[in-house]
Amino acid sequence: MTKSEIGLIGLGTMGSALALNIAEKGHDIAVWNRTTATTKTFFETAGDLAARITPTETLKEFVAALATPRAIILMVPAGHPVDDQIDALLPLLEAEDLIIDAGNANFHDTNRRMRALTQPFLGIGVSGGEEGARHGPAIMGGGPRALWDRVGHILQAIAAKHGDSACADWMGEEGSGHFVKAVHNGIEYADMQLIAEVYGLMRDGLGMDADAIGTIFEGWNEGILQSYLIEISGKVAKAQDTQSGGPLLEVIKDSAGQKGTGRWTAIEAQHLGAAIPVIEAAVVARNMSARKDQRGDMEAIYGKAPQAIDGATLPVEMLEQALIAGKILCYAQGFEMIAAASAQFGWSLDLPAIARVWREGCIIRSAMLDDMASALAQAPDRSLMAAPFFSGKLKETHGALRQVASIAALNGCPAPALSAALAYFDTMRTERGTANMIQGQRDFFGLHGFVRLDDARTDQHGPWAAK
Ligand code: 6PG
Repeated sequence: MTKSEIGLIGLGTMGSALALNIAEKGHDIAVWNRTTATTKTFFETAGDLAARITPTETLKEFVAALATPRAIILMVPAGHPVDDQIDALLPLLEAEDLIIDAGNANFHDTNRRMRALTQPFLGIGVSGGEEGARHGPAIMGGGPRALWDRVGHILQAIAAKHGDSACADWMGEEGSGHFVKAVHNGIEYADMQLIAEVYGLMRDGLGMDADAIGTIFEGWNEGILQSYLIEISGKVAKAQDTQSGGPLLEVIKDSAGQKGTGRWTAIEAQHLGAAIPVIEAAVVARNMSARKDQRGDMEAIYGKAPQAIDGATLPVEMLEQALIAGKILCYAQGFEMIAAASAQFGWSLDLPAIARVWREGCIIRSAMLDDMASALAQAPDRSLMAAPFFSGKLKETHGALRQVASIAALNGCPAPALSAALAYFDTMRTERGTANMIQGQRDFFGLHGFVRLDDARTDQHGPWAAK
C-alpha cells in the first residue's frame, strides 16, 4: 500500500475541511480521530476525494500509514488536548517525524512545546473559518525554517491565493506563527467591534432598520472599506428570521462569545509595552457585552441612554470616514505590536510578508491590506500612521472620527473602540504630552527621578528631595 504524504489528527469542523482541502490539492493524506465513527462518516462523505484519503482506526495504524519522515498535522482543541495528543504520539514516532500544531494555540504553549520536545515541531496559525480551511485559508507558520520547508509546498498549495501569491508563509522562529495569528485575532476583534459600534449608531442614533443598515454596508464594501468583515456584516444585517418574520439581527442576543485569542493579544501587549488600545477596547467590550443582566439593572437606574440623532448631524458618509480612520489606526497598532514582539523575542518578523499573508483567506482580509503590504514594504519600521498613503487617508478622515466619537458620547451611544482610536490618534500626534506631571508626581512621592528637557541625566529631583 502506498504511504500517505501527510497525516491529520482531529476531524472536527476545521480538521475535516483542511483534510479535504489537502486531498483536493493532490496530496495523499491519512486521517485519525479519537472517535472512529467520526472518521468513518468523514471518509464516506468525502466523495471523489476519498481516493486520496486513508482513514485509520488506531494511532498505530495512522502512524504506519504515513511516509517517512512523517508530517502530522494536529487539529485538536488548544491547550491540554494538544499536549495529550503529542504524548500519545511520541512513542510511535521516529526521530525525524514532524508534528504540526495547526490549532489556535497560545504562542507561549508553542514555545514551551518546542523547547521541551526533541521531536521536530511547528506551530501554524490557520485563519478563515471552515470555508477558509476547506477552500483556502491564510497560514502563518512558526518554528525552525528547515521544518517549514519540508511541508511549506503543501501548506502553500492549500492556502488562499492573492494573484499568484499563496497566503501561507513562514513567519519566524519558535511560536511566532501562533503569535501572529493571535494578533490577527486581536485585529479581528477590533475590526468587528468598530463595525458593531457604527451599526449601533445607525440603529439607535439614526433609527435605521437592519435592512437599511445592510444596504449601507453593501455600499461600503464597494469602496476602500472592502473587506470580508464588512461583506458579512451586510449579509448578517439583511438576513431574515423565519421564526419571527423580522430581521434575524433583532433576535440575536447582544452578548458576544470569545475563545481567548483576543484576550491573549491584550495581555501580551501589556508584557511588551505595546500600545493597542483599539484591540483592548474590543476585548473589554466583549467582556461587558456578556454582562447583559447587569446592564439591564443599570439602565433601570440611569434610564435608557442612546438618544435619537438626526441624519444632518450624523450623515452615514461620516460614519464611513470614521470607520476608515478607526480601521487604519487599529491595524497600525497591530503591526506595531508585532514589531515590538519581533524585537523582544529576536524573531526578525517580516511585516510586509505578514500583511501579504493576510490579504486573502483570513477573517481580516481586506482591500486595505494590499496597501498596507506596500506601505510596510517601503518602510517596515515606520508606523502605518506615518506612511504616505495612510497618513493621507487619516488626514481626510480623522475629523469624521472626532465628530462621530463626540456625537456618540453626547448622545450616550457607547463607542469604546472608536473613542480609543481617536485617543490613540491624538496622543500619537502630540509631541508634548502630559507625562511631565506624572514624572513630577512619581518623584514627589517616591524620589523616582526625572529627566529634564534641557538635561538628559536620569537622576534629577525636585525641591521636595532636599526635605
Ligand atoms: C479565524 C478566526 C478563528 C476564531 C474564531 C472565533 O481566523 O479563522 O479567528 O480562529 O477561532 O473567529 O474566535 P472567538 O470565539 O474568540 O471570537
